[in-house]
Order: sequence, then structure tokens, then C-alpha cells
Amino acid sequence: MAKLTVEDLKKIKEEYKAKTALREGAFRARVTVHMGTCGLAAGAREIMNVILEELEKSGATDVAVNTSGCAGLCSREPMITVQILDEPPVKYCDLNEEKTRKIVTEHILGGKVVEDLALVRGCETSY
Ligand code: FES
Repeated sequence: MAKLTVEDLKKIKEEYKAKTALREGAFRARVTVHMGTCGLAAGAREIMNVILEELEKSGATDVAVNTSGCAGLCSREPMITVQILDEPPVKYCDLNEEKTRKIVTEHILGGKVVEDLALVRGCETSY
């Protein structure tokens, strides 16, 4: 069995925190922008700004936005993870402004996964 690394533990903690907050009813949805070194170099700050701008325009107050470190796929950054209450998290990669706006509108606000942009859903299903 492989040893857990500090990064593994951080990911577990992040996932647990996200699930707990959603279960407590604090938020209907959570968006995590992966802002490790690779994400920042690929434009994660711009992605974060687009998400915040779109959410502010929509008036939604039930979406949590937070950051985390690298998601483990430097070459596919910028990446975000979207988690809607009681649904598996979905990772999106290779993001730009246009793709991000579509994800905010259709998935985060509309509740429908943008399958053509999704990399993976939960731990097992990939698009
Ligand atoms: S910093 Fe992104 S995979 Fe290592």
C-alpha cells in the first residue's frame, strides 16, 4: 500500500472540509480554484476573477469559492473543482475566460455538468 504524502493529507482535509460545509447547509455549491504554482503560472488568478465576477453579476449568495493547491495535473491547468450539494465533485481543466463563464452559468448556477469541458467526475467517471 502506498504511503500517504502531506499532499494526500491536504487533499483529504480539503475534501472533508468541503463536504462538511455543504452538509451543514452553508452553501449549495462550492468552487475550488486550484492555485498551486502551476495553476498560478497558467492563469488561475484570471479564472478566479471571472468566477467572482459572474457570481456577483448573478446575485447568487449560496456558492462558496475557495482556493487549494495543485490538483496534480500541471499540464492541464488552470483547473477548478465544482461541487454541488449531494453530487460528486467535477474537475474542469484547460480553462480560459470563455469556458469558465460557461461553467459558472451552466453548472454552478444551473446545476448541469458541462460534459464537454469536464475532465473527471468524482473519482471514477471521466468524460
Ligand atoms: S505543481 Fe502542479 S502537479 Fe506539481
